[in-house]
Amino acid sequence: MKNQSNLNSLLPVPREVRLGCGRMEVRGLQSIHCAPGLERFLEVWQRAFAYFGVRLQRTGTSEAGAVIALDTRLPAEGWRLEVENERLHLYGGSPAGIFYGTGALKQLLTIAFSKGLQGVHDLDCGTIIDEPRYAWRGFMLDSARHFQSVDKVKELIRHLADYRINVLHWHLTDDTGWRIPSRIVPKLKSLGTLEYGQYTRAEIRDIVRYASEHFIRIVPEIDLPGHSRGLLQAYPHLACNTDEPGREYCLGSAETKQFIIELLGEVAGLFPESDVIHIGGDEASTENWENCSRCRRAMEEKGIDSFRALEAQFMGEVSREIAQLGRRAMMWATDWGVGPDTIIQGWRSLFDISNAFERGSDMVFSVHHHLYFDYPESAGEPSANWMPLLPEETVYATDPRVHVGPEVDGKMLGVEACLWTETVPQWRVIPKTLSRLPAFGELAWSFGENRDWYDFTGRKQRLEACGYNSVRDGVRMLLPDGMQAR
Ligand code: ACM
Ligand code: ZN
Repeated sequence: MKNQSNLNSLLPVPREVRLGCGRMEVRGLQSIHCAPGLERFLEVWQRAFAYFGVRLQRTGTSEAGAVIALDTRLPAEGWRLEVENERLHLYGGSPAGIFYGTGALKQLLTIAFSKGLQGVHDLDCGTIIDEPRYAWRGFMLDSARHFQSVDKVKELIRHLADYRINVLHWHLTDDTGWRIPSRIVPKLKSLGTLEYGQYTRAEIRDIVRYASEHFIRIVPEIDLPGHSRGLLQAYPHLACNTDEPGREYCLGSAETKQFIIELLGEVAGLFPESDVIHIGGDEASTENWENCSRCRRAMEEKGIDSFRALEAQFMGEVSREIAQLGRRAMMWATDWGVGPDTIIQGWRSLFDISNAFERGSDMVFSVHHHLYFDYPESAGEPSANWMPLLPEETVYATDPRVHVGPEVDGKMLGVEACLWTETVPQWRVIPKTLSRLPAFGELAWSFGENRDWYDFTGRKQRLEACGYNSVRDGVRMLLPDGMQAR
């Protein structure tokens, strides 16, 4: 059991808390200094203190009570908060570290002021030293099955950032939805078979910028070679059989290949900062390929003897195309694999992870019965009847190192929770996410030896009971010199 210091109230739990002597009275702080380039955080600090009625005057000297600065000896996303009698100093390995440390500060202020505005509002002296366990702390949003407005995606981004998620994997195409504007498939905007909704270029730019302000990078996904029924109904010449196009692209058609190359070029242009592009790869059926003379011929020409090998070659070619665009390809795990340069997302079972590890791939852990957030938390919730229950504690108990073995550590880039939306219309996106996000955030950020379910629920309940959600939203909305606080 951790001691009762109020520095031990953070979510997610930090790497290390070193307690010092004495206490710091928060209202004693009067001035703030920030290193050049970090002014946006200074503003957030002023708003956070103003929320509790404390005005921090900006000064040019680092002798100020509150100081925000970089310390490049820290890991890029790491941060260190030093609480001394009359000083509060935050150091970040990069602006991302400052961003995460500032989130922690809001929690600490919430706790310090939890007894009301009168009286003493202090923090124990000490140093908090933090860094993430995983570089890839992902969340997948399926915008294909149900569409979400720009505002809803931004609301989700704010919540993800609060729990230090840094990758938004955006599932943008599927059988029933095509959400990106494309010059080469203009018909998809109006097609009756598709659920309504498509982002404009300006909206995508806006979301990418908003995500990046929250230190979240976007990994767009175009699902290939299956999951493409709507597109193939509009453009049946890209399928094996134009009369019954089905869900899979034709793997033996030069025209289809050319189309996909152009499409990927468009995606790269829409997401110029995305260093990873996800190309799907899940759940393709071989049936159409088996009945297609072009696919059979392609197999013969390549000297391969199975349609799965043909698919693997095709996805390998697509991965190399992504590399040509200066990006890295990522795929859902299959049994037949691609080259080791492609990041593999394990989703069906722990075997996906072991297989990918044996092939030398970098991996992301999304095994469905641990991390599919469309699964219900309790009986009676709207869901498909085959879905297992996925309560918060199951998410919390997830640990790739424990489930698969410590040998995967170096190849496991991280973890990703997935919100598929067949049963999740827009209004359910936030509630389905929020209830398990704190547990997932701690799994993604915090080191295993620091994680403890009972300690976690205690911290979470305490922050909730102290009104942390209102503080966070209030700080967001205040003006910088908002002494009109509260
Ligand atoms: C998946 O759940 N089809 C990746
Ligand atoms: Zn074909």
